[in-house]
Amino acid sequence: MKKASILISVVLAALMALAFVGCGKKTSQTPADSTQGSKALVVYFSVNDDTAKVADTIASATGADTFEIKAKEAYKDEDVDFTKQDSRAAKEQADDKARPEIDGEVKEWDSYDTIFVGYPIWMNKAPKILDTFMETYDFTDKTVVPFATSADGADIGETAKELQTAAGDKGTWLDGKVLDANVTEEDITAWMTELGLDLGTAAPVDATDVSDEAESETSALSEAESTTAA
Ligand SMILES: Cc1cc2nc3c(=O)[nH]c(=O)nc-3n(C[C@H](O)[C@H](O)[C@H](O)COP(=O)(O)O)c2cc1C
Repeated sequence: MKKASILISVVLAALMALAFVGCGKKTSQTPADSTQGSKALVVYFSVNDDTAKVADTIASATGADTFEIKAKEAYKDEDVDFTKQDSRAAKEQADDKARPEIDGEVKEWDSYDTIFVGYPIWMNKAPKILDTFMETYDFTDKTVVPFATSADGADIGETAKELQTAAGDKGTWLDGKVLDANVTEEDITAWMTELGLDLGTAAPVDATDVSDEAESETSALSEAESTTAA
């Protein structure tokens, strides 16, 4: 009888230990420990939602987390009027030193080993806020997959190479692509196969880490926006 209860206690303890290890796995594992493919993050900047849509599709197809690059000073419609040479976007794109500030930061950057970087083409380049991002984060040991959206005709061209340079040539950069806003998950899966990337199927989460101050500013902005919209 005593032996049986000792045996039951041992089995229960083993089961609890296993359950504990299982729970901790999601947050404590590093990509190097993972046996289920790499942990991926889709970082993107989008003003009119095309790139955001593509980012969401990549996240759904690959299980990657997402981080939206938001400007501290949000872009208004007139800021991105590319028909005006004195618009904010036109001036930033013409200024090699322009580095618009980013609101918020990526949570647990070190835990990601594959980074998708998405942006709209602006005046044949990536928006300057991408340079801010590239110079802020360390891409050493990361696999980087650039993607872009553009109006008809433009392709990713030299933009990915320029970002690679802005990242100090760190990381392994795979061939980037211009994608349509309505790209499908199947298209993304086929692209991943082409690139030889196995990313697993974890549920995507938002990797944005904003300070309390930034958070209240953001919600104040959304409130203002919804008031304007109404
Ligand atoms: C300021 C600005 C500059 C642009 N410059 C180009 C360009 O040089 N070539 C191009 O094909 N499209 C250009 N576009 C179009 C965008 O790349 C395209 O609409 C993109 O899908 C927008 O992405 P988003 O909705 O994520 O902001 C430009 C758009 C803006 C707002």
